[in-house]
Amino acid sequence: MIAVTAASGNLGHLVIDSLLRKVPGSEIVAAARNMGKIGDLASKGVAVREADYSKPDTLARALAGVDKLLMISGSEVGRRVEQHKAVIAATKNAGVKLLLYTSLLHCDSSPLLLREEHLQTENAIRASGIPFAILRNSWYNENYLNAIVQAAKLGVHYGCAGEGRVSAATRADYADAAVAVLTSTENQGGKTYELAGDDGFTLAQFAAEIARHSGKPVRYENLSESAYKDVLVKAGLPEPVAGFFASTDTGISKGALYDGGRQLHQLIGRATTPIAATIAKVLGN
Ligand SMILES: NC(=O)c1ccc[n+]([C@@H]2O[C@H](COP(=O)([O-])OP(=O)(O)OC[C@H]3O[C@@H](n4cnc5c(N)ncnc54)[C@H](OP(=O)(O)O)[C@@H]3O)[C@@H](O)[C@H]2O)c1
Repeated sequence: MIAVTAASGNLGHLVIDSLLRKVPGSEIVAAARNMGKIGDLASKGVAVREADYSKPDTLARALAGVDKLLMISGSEVGRRVEQHKAVIAATKNAGVKLLLYTSLLHCDSSPLLLREEHLQTENAIRASGIPFAILRNSWYNENYLNAIVQAAKLGVHYGCAGEGRVSAATRADYADAAVAVLTSTENQGGKTYELAGDDGFTLAQFAAEIARHSGKPVRYENLSESAYKDVLVKAGLPEPVAGFFASTDTGISKGALYDGGRQLHQLIGRATTPIAATIAKVLGN
């Protein structure tokens, strides 16, 4: 049995769909804290179980009989280390033979604020003795959906990433990579994958691509981190969220979300989805 936690989320749904292309539904467990959000997966023939990272008893039940588990990182920032440790403990007790975890690109050296929770989770996995594989995902193309719409409307994309490149790929690309590892016949124990899109882009290239697809001029304006944060606050974002985005852009300027190793491409056996394809989809051309 292969189980996927946080199956109710965007990535979880894509992983289950991708798994179903390779494995019978009778061998798949979709686990989520909100069963109402995975009813659609039950109708596709997979087993559905409750698994709330904050409720260890649900985790023990969800992992009974499971051989391989993909633990998708939770979304409750600040609570995730404790939550992920609960999943790791339940995984150990259930005798799971391979634990996969969706971490952050270059987690060991990343300057991003997100790093800490992922690093502590990785360390707990390594210390657990459970055979594991770490999927260190770069950015999703989908993180830019709103930015694409806004930039096409305003004719400008603000940021503070300088010339830093973003090796983004779609959630579907990362989902296929997770499935490639989950269904691999090779020993995956102890492997750490740096998963990133084939061709990174600078934010100036991002703006130019939006201009090309919208048929209107769109420029990239590079600001200081504090000026970019102010722009985001004025646009209506809460201050901590604006600060997070601005510091992430500064991280990008230092190469935090760039990787040229093409491990994602190799795992999925095809080119990753370029940001141009996501822009074209959003702008409807
Ligand atoms: N690489 C990137 O660019 C990027 C961007 C955003 C997020 N992420 C990370 O990647 C993960 C998956 O991405 P996504 O797009 O699928 O995010 P998403 O659609 O927001 O899904 C988050 C998932 O985490 C689940 N979750 C949160 N707290 C939980 C808990 N206590 N117990 C069980 N499940 C819990 C959510 O359950 P509910 O449906 O019940 O809320 C949901 O299924 C995110 O959770 C986050 O850690 C990565």
